[in-house]
Order: sequence, then structure tokens, then C-alpha cells
Amino acid sequence: MNSEYREIASKLAEIAIIPVIKLDNPEQAAPLAEALVKAGLPAAEVTFRTDAAARSIGIISKEFPDILTGAGTVLTIDQVKAAVDAGSRFVVSPGFNPRVVDYCLDKGIPVYPGVNNPSGIEAALERGLDVLKFFPAEASGGIKMINAMSAPYGTVRFMATGGINASNLVSYLESPYVSACGGSWMVQGELISSGRFDEIERLSAEAVNLVKSWRNK
Ligand code: 3PG
Repeated sequence: MNSEYREIASKLAEIAIIPVIKLDNPEQAAPLAEALVKAGLPAAEVTFRTDAAARSIGIISKEFPDILTGAGTVLTIDQVKAAVDAGSRFVVSPGFNPRVVDYCLDKGIPVYPGVNNPSGIEAALERGLDVLKFFPAEASGGIKMINAMSAPYGTVRFMATGGINASNLVSYLESPYVSACGGSWMVQGELISSGRFDEIERLSAEAVNLVKSWRNK
């Protein structure tokens, strides 16, 4: 796999938490990014669930170059193009769409498709991808599922996402098969829409501190 795929995966592993962000309005992008920076959480997965995604990625990647900014919920090749044109450094999708994955591989764009079963893992391995999103994590059996499913696929690392929050974050990170966790718990939609960026900063800092305390244990 190309070095950028590895480099981004290892940066995300170092940060350990990937805020999964849904912005309705690109004007929310800068204050949100500022809250993440202040909290010491320099990663953002901006989801293509709204029309504001590409413009928001553009604002964050331009004004906050220290944030590792990627696109989430990427379901189509057109969305990959829009994400990358806007400055997205990586692409994440909820499932394994061979067309999207193959397009990214062809263009050298780091892509982390979602899987939650052995067939998805093997489709990814077949293409040289061994860092994958595990989605939806909790509903798919959580950490127990990841550990059981990893027995035959020991080289695969998961970015677990879906149902993760401050209370179960560390239980995922403790698994040798989990490289990072994604989630929206620190960047919830209501907090963004009501402009409560101070609360976003507080929840993000809390998440960062959980990782720090776990690492220093
Ligand atoms: C995602 O798109 O990865 C998930 O919707 C995030 O899951 P969460 O909202 O349960 O954290």
C-alpha cells in the first residue's frame, strides 16, 4: 500500500480519536475546528451527509492545516472527487464499495472503507488494505466481535466507529486490533447547530485526556 495510506493511518492511530462531523452550514466549520485544536484533537472526518461537506472540508484544510482532515460517508466517486478537490487528505466510507475503493486506489487517495464481517475484510485485503473502519461498531458486536474476527486476520487494524463514547472508548483502544476510534459523541449535531463550541471543546478535551491517561497507565 502506498506510503500516504500508511502515514495517515499511523497519524490517526497516534491521535487515536477521529471526530465524525456533520455540518449543516460551512460557517460552522471554523469555530468547530478551533474547538478541536484548543482541545488538542487535530483530526476531523467531515461526512458527506450534508451539502456543506465539501465547503467545510475546504475551510478546515485551508484555515487549520494542522488538523488531519478527511471525508466521511463517501458513497460515490463524485464525492471522492469533491472531497479531494476541497483538500481532504483521506476518504472513509461506512461500507466497502468496490467502485469507490478502486477509484481511490487508482488515484493514490488513502481510503479506509468500512467493514463489519470477514467477507468485507477479505475484499479489502485482496486490494492491499489492512487498516479499515469497523462500522457500526457497537451494533455489530463491539470489541468482542473485533477480537473474535481478528483471529484469522491478525494483521488488520480497525478504526472502530458507531456507538463509541467516553464510557467505552478505552475498552476499544485496549484491543491490539484497534488502531483508533471514530465517533460523533464530542461533536454532536445539536451542539454544532446551537453554537455550543465550548462544550465541543470540553468533550473533545475529555476524550483526549482519556487516551492520555490510558497510555500513561
Ligand atoms: C459514522 O458515520 O461513523 C457514525 O455515524 C458515527 O457513529 P456515532 O454517531 O455513533 O459516533
